[in-house]
Amino acid sequence: MTPNTIAIDGPAASGKSTVGAKVADALDYIFFDTGIMYRAITWTAIQHGVDISDEDAVSKIAEKTPIDIQPPTKADGRSSDVIVEKEDITWACRKPAVDTNVSTVAAYAGVRAALSQQQRRIGLRGNVVMVGRDIGTVVMPEAKLKIYLDASAEERAQRRYDEVIARGEQANYAEILTKVKERDHVDSTRDLAPLRSAEDAIILNSDNLDIQQVFEKIMALYK
Ligand code: DC
Repeated sequence: MTPNTIAIDGPAASGKSTVGAKVADALDYIFFDTGIMYRAITWTAIQHGVDISDEDAVSKIAEKTPIDIQPPTKADGRSSDVIVEKEDITWACRKPAVDTNVSTVAAYAGVRAALSQQQRRIGLRGNVVMVGRDIGTVVMPEAKLKIYLDASAEERAQRRYDEVIARGEQANYAEILTKVKERDHVDSTRDLAPLRSAEDAIILNSDNLDIQQVFEKIMALYK
């Protein structure tokens, strides 16, 4: 039996989204980047002037803010449109202010409860490639194929740097590296659903592989 839910977890900028979208495309599955939801809530909280350290206030935002993720309407490198309060926040939720605060938001119990429930509902429909931190361990533990995609912090920071530069924005490699390491630390040491590979996940290290090679490895595992 071929798996109809593929879970890809791993640290920030490990290439999960790029390769996940490619796998979904090849299989005609839906691609679902769950990190977008944590980013959307972080962005909305910032927009509303909510103090990010106020767990209750941020959790309320997660409970009451519908996040609309739809097929892309622009060919500008996005894998989907992210709409909140009628605004297209696809790129806004990738801004440095969100990068800095999203791990704090993602550690809150109320936020995780609200978002992982919605994610699970989508996962259970099947024919979906889901990427995140806790898909194989918490959101879709029954996923038939689980990949844990890893890479060194330096390699991941370099990829993120290249992405930002390719979008025509300014970037500083050293700052990105520091942030990647900080996020790794918060994401993997939090009490709830910390970043770790599921026991039955296949660990792929992409340090010396390009996206095409990672894609081919996942497709071979799928088959
Ligand atoms: O993959 P990303 O960098 O866009 O994720 C943004 C943040 O969201 C990251 O710091 C960890 C969190 N996240 C999470 O806790 N659980 C998920 N399933 C996906 C993302």
